[in-house]
Amino acid sequence: MPRHRERTRHLASPENGLVHVLITGGRGFLGARLARRLREAGHRVTLFDTHQAQARADVSGMETVTGDICDFHAVLDAVDAASPDVIVHAAAIVGGVLSMEQPAATVHVNVAGTVHVLEAMRLRGVPRAFMISSEECYGSFGYEPADEAHPLVPATPYGITKVAAEWYTGYYRRRFGVEMVNVRTSWVYGAGMPRLRFETKLILDALTTGVALSETGADHRIDYTHVDDFVDGLLRLIEAPRLDHQAYNISSGRAVRLGDLAELIAANIPGARIEVGNGLLEFAPGFPAPVKGALSIERARREVGYQPRISLEEGMRRYVDDLRRASSVVS
Ligand SMILES: NC(=O)c1ccc[n+]([C@@H]2O[C@H](COP(=O)([O-])OP(=O)(O)OC[C@H]3O[C@@H](n4cnc5c(N)ncnc54)[C@H](O)[C@@H]3O)[C@@H](O)[C@H]2O)c1
Repeated sequence: MPRHRERTRHLASPENGLVHVLITGGRGFLGARLARRLREAGHRVTLFDTHQAQARADVSGMETVTGDICDFHAVLDAVDAASPDVIVHAAAIVGGVLSMEQPAATVHVNVAGTVHVLEAMRLRGVPRAFMISSEECYGSFGYEPADEAHPLVPATPYGITKVAAEWYTGYYRRRFGVEMVNVRTSWVYGAGMPRLRFETKLILDALTTGVALSETGADHRIDYTHVDDFVDGLLRLIEAPRLDHQAYNISSGRAVRLGDLAELIAANIPGARIEVGNGLLEFAPGFPAPVKGALSIERARREVGYQPRISLEEGMRRYVDDLRRASSVVS
């Protein structure tokens, strides 16, 4: 165990700085985009995902292992086959609404799945991992910008599973010296986003019918992060020779009112009528979404030089163009 801890504390990369990264959920929105960036940077990548998973970005030619994160032996076999230097754990059931529809499955995939990865790391001595966690850990923000010390008071099954998974990372670190760093992000958007989230629905409705309406939500504020900025932040954490903390926020660091976002989208779809009613978003009738705002990204800025580069105006313009070109492949 001390040897294990020594390897992880110094987070030493192989001599040429290149690592082999196993990405669970590697065919998903963030996993596939990260895989491409890692490959472009010269790293080796293996993807782990279910056989149903549709690739959300071009992952052709990448090594892929098919399996279910809920099956411990499948996870262990993947770790044995890849023998990775780093794991990025992105496999999950994602989002507050979906988790409310599938609360038990969300526990299995998000909590047991994470424990399977941690257990495989412990048994095989994998030096380092990153779990893609969420601002949903914080629940409704008590202050803003919410930094990593914000209390963890999750309000949805999804947030509860992310906090539970983070607590398991803490247990495995203290008990076994297993290093899984929690990377908390906000609403990441961009080409390949697989869910009909607020902005995606507005854009698709406006593009296909010329009219997009949401009964509520104009006063909700969200920290939207372009996928390329998120991947850049995660890559910086992966490549850092040393990290001083166990949790990092990676987001844009700014929040926009959804009423203002709707105007921004409308400016990119001439002639469309987009209207969003006042008030906060609801995840179900009478069940408000947690109140959000900006995350603090000072820790990542200070330690790994993370700096988001894509303004919301530019990012949404690109996203509208992406959806205009590829609306038929968004489910
Ligand atoms: N996109 C966001 O805005 C956002 C925000 C905060 C956190 N996250 C986190 O980022 C990670 C990736 O999310 P995403 O947006 O890319 O979503 P996604 O749905 O595109 O990716 C999740 C991937 O996990 C895979 N998966 C699901 N169940 C699995 C199982 N049982 N076994 C193996 N693989 C399984 C899916 O097939 C999919 O490819 C998740 O952990 C999510 O909670 C995403």
